[in-house]
Amino acid sequence: MTLTVAVDGPAASGKGTISKAVAAYFGFAHLDTGLLYRAVGAQMLLGQDPLVAAQMLQAEDIDAEKLRNSEVAQAASKVAAIPEVRAALLDFQRAFARRAGGAVLDGRDIGTVICPDADAKLYVTASDEVRAKRRFLELSGKGQDVTQEGVLEDLRARDKRDRERASAPLKPADDAVIIDTSDLSIEDAVAVAIAKIEASRAG
Ligand code: CDP
Repeated sequence: MTLTVAVDGPAASGKGTISKAVAAYFGFAHLDTGLLYRAVGAQMLLGQDPLVAAQMLQAEDIDAEKLRNSEVAQAASKVAAIPEVRAALLDFQRAFARRAGGAVLDGRDIGTVICPDADAKLYVTASDEVRAKRRFLELSGKGQDVTQEGVLEDLRARDKRDRERASAPLKPADDAVIIDTSDLSIEDAVAVAIAKIEASRAG
């Protein structure tokens, strides 16, 4: 059986947490596509050409712990606006989506561009303030030197760049189910996501 779940949404909306939990619940594989762009962004910060970095991307470049910081996030959203970089990462994502046993992919353009025929599409969002607080707690919990205001600015700048770019902008697919996690606990958000996916499978 191949079943693809597309999860999109703005920065720190909870889509990664929901995607991981949903993948574990159904026994599907999970791909955090943001890590691909973060890995290319990190290479650009080291002086590499972003397109060459995207074409040469290796599994060992994708070290989530090293890539989860504000500087790399900003670089990721810059390289993500380059159509050729997106094109270079397309086949890998589509092949992952088709793998046997089911797959959950989270990102910005999964339901719109990468997997327009996904079996279930979720668009996870939350207020700017809630997202900034969550990301602040995550990064400061890892010992990073951040402020909540700085994180809020960072998220807004990335969302603006991600929404306004010409190539695969951040937006819900027409047939996506919107989940606003502003007032939901993680458990409740995951339960809502699972129910939506069950409903799309049944339908
Ligand atoms: O975890 P967070 O939501 O903060 O960001 P991420 O998912 O790791 O993505 C980092 C950046 O990569 C985003 O701001 C986007 O610019 C870009 N991205 C994208 O363009 N398309 C995707 N499918 C995933 C990420």
